[in-house]
Amino acid sequence: MGGEEAVSLRLDAPQPPSVPPDGIRILSRRERPDVVEAMYEVYVECDQDVPGSSGPLTLEGWRALDIDRPSRSPDLSFVAFEGDEVVGYAVADLFGDEAHHGFTAVKRAWRRRGIATALKRAQIAAATDLGLKRLATGSEERNLPMRRLNAKLGYRPDPELSVVVLRGPVQE
Ligand SMILES: CC(C)(COP(=O)(O)OP(=O)(O)OC[C@H]1O[C@@H](n2cnc3c(N)ncnc32)[C@H](O)[C@@H]1OP(=O)(O)O)[C@@H](O)C(=O)NCCC(=O)NCCS
Repeated sequence: MGGEEAVSLRLDAPQPPSVPPDGIRILSRRERPDVVEAMYEVYVECDQDVPGSSGPLTLEGWRALDIDRPSRSPDLSFVAFEGDEVVGYAVADLFGDEAHHGFTAVKRAWRRRGIATALKRAQIAAATDLGLKRLATGSEERNLPMRRLNAKLGYRPDPELSVVVLRGPVQE
């Protein structure tokens, strides 16, 4: 089992804008609340690629976690479209003056084109507009794509967020 590495981005300096790749539009969940089932399809495909995943949640379970829980912010959650097709999404929770990233996912056929980068940059811009101080996230330590992406965007290990990870049998 892998641990989680906690990293954060301090929003005290200007950040580059979100520039989606050609043909891709990034819209917030507030602008497009109508694509929940298409987001679920993205989740089911992408969950298979998350190290340590125990399999996808049902639509109802996923919806409660990724869409409907009270802390989830439609202004900090974004969907990527090619034409009318939903090809990726990134969601986040708002807690006071900071936000925590949730799942970030891009369908396999659209990967390595900068879509996750554009989704996260849209979240960073929205968080900055809301006056937030910090964006935090945890990546499964084996999830190299996500860890590299976060590092590239300027997220750094944050001692304030560190968690204790226990490995092996717990001594009684
Ligand atoms: C992680 C994920 C969202 C990346 O989406 P993406 O649109 O392909 O990402 P980008 O094209 O914006 O990649 C940006 C950078 O991330 C890193 N990266 C992305 N995929 C990578 C891979 N397979 N291997 C190594 N680095 C990778 C690279 O540094 C890349 O920059 P580069 O292409 O210039 O080298 C996608 O692989 C995915 O949906 N994975 C399954 C779900 C998941 O694990 N989500 C994270 C848990 S929250």
